[in-house]
Amino acid sequence: MAEKKLILNDPDSGKSAELPVRTGTTGPDAADISSLYREHGLFTYDPGFVSTASCRSDITFIDGDQGLLMYRGYSIEELAQHSTFLEVAYLSLYGELPKKTQLEEFTDSIRYHTMIHEALKSFFRGFHYDAHPMAMMTGVVGSLSAFYHDSLDITDARAQEIFAHRMIAKMPTIAACAYKHSIGQPFIYPRNDLAYCENFLHMLFAVPCEEYEVDPVAAQALDMLFILHADHEQNASTSTVRLAGSSGTNPYAAMAAGIACLWGPAHGGANEAVLNMLEEVGDVSQIPKYIEKAKDKNDPFRLMGFGHRVYKNYDPRATVIRGMCHKLLKRMGKENDPLFELALELEQRALNDDYFKEKKLYPNVDFYSGIIYKALGLQTNMFTVMFAIARTVGWVAHWQEMTNDPEQRIGRPRQIYTGPAQRKYVPLNKRG
Ligand code: SDX
Repeated sequence: MAEKKLILNDPDSGKSAELPVRTGTTGPDAADISSLYREHGLFTYDPGFVSTASCRSDITFIDGDQGLLMYRGYSIEELAQHSTFLEVAYLSLYGELPKKTQLEEFTDSIRYHTMIHEALKSFFRGFHYDAHPMAMMTGVVGSLSAFYHDSLDITDARAQEIFAHRMIAKMPTIAACAYKHSIGQPFIYPRNDLAYCENFLHMLFAVPCEEYEVDPVAAQALDMLFILHADHEQNASTSTVRLAGSSGTNPYAAMAAGIACLWGPAHGGANEAVLNMLEEVGDVSQIPKYIEKAKDKNDPFRLMGFGHRVYKNYDPRATVIRGMCHKLLKRMGKENDPLFELALELEQRALNDDYFKEKKLYPNVDFYSGIIYKALGLQTNMFTVMFAIARTVGWVAHWQEMTNDPEQRIGRPRQIYTGPAQRKYVPLNKRG
């Protein structure tokens, strides 16, 4: 089939440009502008990369109009219903659902890497007790590069794999240490007899002075939340990991950059911001006031957990989580959770408001997840840490894809310069 082309004509100069058009498996075509500056001296301008494809990727696809999300071709709804977080991690890393023995070997490898170097624990003691856990995650994950010299050859396939397994395995342990440090309790070691989410809940909530039984319902809910948060194509934090990784830096340092970016309230920090917002709204009677504030251009208040750069329909993850909320809160005897009731009412009022309808602002993944994390007993400032644990799967998968992509070069965007034209230096004694 003849290659598709985009023809650009400038009637004033009579110049024209022919741009090859790239086509993927599904989704919009992309005009390849990589030769535009070299051959035509022209940049493109796209703040926030609304219309820019930064790479080719086989990992995740989102259709914002259909509200579709799939990992390696499998819909998020099917994976949430039938899969497990470690199976989704395997799928994201290796591209196919694992056979039984492959999943067993992968699970054993992750289990083998859950401990962290004992010297790392002193890093936590350097933080004040009220340090935000995301600040601790950023610092401690960045320091992993100082402990793992053996996986620094980023072109070596086995080194890449060990790095990926170490990151997926150690994030819950590091997160649990950050939580324990913030509440002044001793760190709890991982246990090899527990599955991934059970092990994490045990490290979070067990204490040395008594046995702690993990609630299987809580573990299952957490596993599904991790599946829903595992990847999301070229979101801000994953793009940060790709850009940082494109310089050839240590992969653990690239992960720390992703964690730092995820922390922002416009991104992964939104789940914490939603809970704070619901607590600020307080009760149903205040909803109209806050919806008006969200619509007021002069008011910085935004309805956190609403809106999305890509989804102009329901975020399919929000739909799954909303359903989970009902089931989990009922199982935990918290079905009349006032925050959940308030969230449901706020959602309904917003969805029926013309402003939100016109701007296609729907609940996103962060709107309900915090309610579940709170029901699981987590403090609000740990919510984004949960997001980071899950998104580590996407970050390592995209880092590996970027590192092995023959088209990949160091990311170095250009700009439209709007500063002063060149001018002569004025010596100090002549500046008046
Ligand atoms: C995540 O990219 C990903 O895939 C992210 C993520 C992932 O899995 O990695 O899905 C996770 O980050 C989800 C988003 C979590 N953030 C929030 O819930 C914060 C609240 N939402 C907004 O800040 C906003 O909707 C964004 C950041 C999510 C999207 O920003 P965009 O695409 O740049 O849209 P925008 O800010 O240009 O908004 C478009 C219009 C604006 O009005 P106008 O200037 O056109 O008049 O919609 C308005 C905005 O003011 N708007 C909102 C709003 N979100 C957008 N108005 C009120 N409340 C909101 N939440």
